[in-house]
Amino acid sequence: MDKINIFNTTDELNEAVVSFIQLISKEKSHFSISLSGGSTPKALFDYWANAEQNPEFWEKTKLFWGDERCVPPDDEMSNYGMTKQHLLDKVPIAEKNIFRIHGEENAEKEAVRYGQLIDKEVTPFDLIILGLGDDGHTVSIFPPTIDLWECPETCIVNHHPESGMPRITITGKVVNKATRVIFLVTGANKAEKVRDIVLHREEFAVRYPAALVNPASGNLYWFLDKAAAHLL
Ligand code: 6PG
Repeated sequence: MDKINIFNTTDELNEAVVSFIQLISKEKSHFSISLSGGSTPKALFDYWANAEQNPEFWEKTKLFWGDERCVPPDDEMSNYGMTKQHLLDKVPIAEKNIFRIHGEENAEKEAVRYGQLIDKEVTPFDLIILGLGDDGHTVSIFPPTIDLWECPETCIVNHHPESGMPRITITGKVVNKATRVIFLVTGANKAEKVRDIVLHREEFAVRYPAALVNPASGNLYWFLDKAAAHLL
């Protein structure tokens, strides 16, 4: 089921992701994406901003986030803030197409609001881009709280296991309902988890939330650099 794509350089990886997005969105009049946060997407967003200046693409595309830290949008920890800096400020996308998680609001209330928005606007997502933590987490569902993956809610509040920072995150039902899911993973520090999940998913499904990503569509794509893929 997993479609594995391995690239020698970050540029080749990002070019392939942007081409993939252009291909799958080509025939659609509306296109919804849930973006990942953290640091990996920064290079993709910089590349994407340079490669995609077509107003028609950004007019039909709605951007959401799979998770957000509970901080203001201008905080250096904000996934939206990172995306604004590396992508949104550099492409012709209208505010009406950007659906950020309000990390500065009451977390429980915002999780409900954002879940209702997703249920109303985009279920299922055309594309969900996921990152992979070096502990096997994805979105903001971590190994110690893996049971939250099966929550009936669309969006919930969770906490980072080390820092305790509150996060708002979509749940497994949203991810596994998506038409297509991409894992965007770079760096040797992720290689063991990539191997565990791609080659031994069943064994690690009890430990790693990322191993529970299993879209009903069957469309799970890995976009990896050589370092992240070197144990495959
Ligand atoms: C976040 C994420 C998270 C991220 C992984 C990988 O808010 O941090 O969305 O799931 O994708 O932790 O993060 P890096 O790309 O920084 O390694």
